[in-house]
Amino acid sequence: MKSNKNGKAARPTLPRLIEYIKPHSGWLALSMVCAAASVIFTLFIPVLTGDIIDLCIGEGKVELSAFPPMLIKLGVCVLAAVSAGLLSSYFNNRITFRCARELRLKAFARITGAPLSLLDSAPSGELINRVTGDIDYVSDGLLHAFTQLFTGVAAICGTLVFMLRASARASLPVILLTPLSIAVAAVIARGSYKYFSRQTATQADMAGYLDEYVGRAGLVKAFGREKAACDGFDKINSELYECGYMAQVYSALVNPSTRLVNNFVFAAVGVTGALIACRGGLTVGQITMFLAYASQYAKPFNEISGIAAQLTAALASADRVFKLIDTPFEDADDPKEPLEAAVAEKIGEVSLENVSFSYSPDKKLIEELNLQAKPGQRIAIVGPTGCGKTTIINLLMRFYDIRGGKIYADGRDAYSIHRGELRQRYAMVLQDTWLMRGTVAENIAYGAKGEVSRAEIEQAAERAMASPFIRQLKNGYDTVIDDGDTLSGGQKQLICIARVMLAAARNHGNGTAESMLILDEATSNIDTRTELLVQQAFSDLMRGRTSFVVAHRLSTIKSSDIILVMDSGKVVEQGSHEQLLAKNGFYAALWKAMTENS
Ligand SMILES: Nc1ncnc2c1ncn2[C@@H]1O[C@H](COP(=O)(O)OP(=O)(O)OP(=O)(O)O)[C@@H](O)[C@H]1O
Ligand SMILES: [Mg+2]
Repeated sequence: MKSNKNGKAARPTLPRLIEYIKPHSGWLALSMVCAAASVIFTLFIPVLTGDIIDLCIGEGKVELSAFPPMLIKLGVCVLAAVSAGLLSSYFNNRITFRCARELRLKAFARITGAPLSLLDSAPSGELINRVTGDIDYVSDGLLHAFTQLFTGVAAICGTLVFMLRASARASLPVILLTPLSIAVAAVIARGSYKYFSRQTATQADMAGYLDEYVGRAGLVKAFGREKAACDGFDKINSELYECGYMAQVYSALVNPSTRLVNNFVFAAVGVTGALIACRGGLTVGQITMFLAYASQYAKPFNEISGIAAQLTAALASADRVFKLIDTPFEDADDPKEPLEAAVAEKIGEVSLENVSFSYSPDKKLIEELNLQAKPGQRIAIVGPTGCGKTTIINLLMRFYDIRGGKIYADGRDAYSIHRGELRQRYAMVLQDTWLMRGTVAENIAYGAKGEVSRAEIEQAAERAMASPFIRQLKNGYDTVIDDGDTLSGGQKQLICIARVMLAAARNHGNGTAESMLILDEATSNIDTRTELLVQQAFSDLMRGRTSFVVAHRLSTIKSSDIILVMDSGKVVEQGSHEQLLAKNGFYAALWKAMTENS
């Protein structure tokens, strides 16, 4: 399995990108046919114009009767060239944006399905940029490659064929000046790529900087760091100015230099054509045709070199996107079907046997942890900040995988069932308040499956003591919670509590009630009076469920069946409140300190 994944990650970017285009190969072929047709029809226009000019050369030699059919032909050519070009452009857009949509979907699926260890360690801005900015670069690169690369190559080849067909000698200056066109295009492309890529990187830096400072405006103000913040911004801004300015200088060089090369080709073709015409080798109409080709000759070279630079940037972006897409799903190795059958009398039983875990291999955290929780028991986890309380919750929920030992939930090995199924067995309110963009009502209903009525939402909020403050919000339950921190920490916690109340009530009704409950500092930001009221609702929730409660306020966990006292990743004491007080150890000291202070 692993080698397979690694093998996939090592695959080169371009062939992988082509794989995304393959399903659209029919459309791509159509687009190429249309682009070729557009180029050929465009190249026919100077031929027809030349022929028309040749109809009116010399006194009394104007063949008026031949004009209308020639003009019709010219009109048809112009119309066909434009229509074929539009069709090709339509197909290219269709292919490109479908590929981008597919890439985005896969990348987002990986973000939601990736292990928490990846999401916790990667800066969120960087991950977001892969799904938005990087995929935009890929689609821009593909679109330009499709539209301009093929058309450009076809235009250069077609022009040479049309010229050679009319006169090999008159084509000679164009062929001889081709290296000049290539050299000028390459110099401009190299310069603009250098500055454009620097500009892109600096823009990403600026977005990150702004994100950080806008998000922490309060911190900046509190410590009077406004000037330092502006200085830091100015540095990035100056860099952005410099590379943006230089990128535009190179961009601005494209037109004059193309015109310069075209003028060389134009003059050379004009002189050579005139000399050949003097000897009767070319008509005036044919010279006009040659001049028309010459005036357009250098343009595709610039376009192609520009695309080469853009494709390089697009491939670098695609590489970052594929690295994300290659992240294994956290449940990749989970059994799809439970390996062990559930035993009714073991529902609610949780045990940890010699569990060891650390976030990084070089820093030990949890070692040889043992715990036996019988169905319906209340387990409290207490201990100083950073001792590993939330980590135990992370292990129970399989947000992180243990490095050694065994965890049993509902009497079954937690690793013998799919983690989705395991998580459904737990109702939880976590230390971090997870609210989504949406209304208060939508947030409360988030954990419940199926249609949820407003009455159910209000009932849950009532039980969680959240309804008084919700009713005072501008739009009550329909108030939109967006990114802005418009709710207090305690209010957010009350919404999360209402969410678990609703989900639990729902699942109780449909027979899929969770057998375990996790409360990790669920009321840490709530005032004591409201907390006491919420505790009552929690007691109802705990009835019939094995519960794990993390709390700093020991008074709230005093009546627990088992109190796990932790210090530096180890369980230093375990027992009931009375047993631990009698032991006169770590817990007794904590209790004493707390009761003396209050
Ligand atoms: N995602 C993570 N990656 C690496 N280390 C982590 C991660 N989460 C926590 N830690 C570290 O693991 C240790 C235990 O953290 P944990 O969150 O379990 O503490 P806690 O007991 O819940 O603390 P608190 O009372 O402050 O909530 C800490 O030293 C912390 O720095
Ligand atoms: Mg914690």
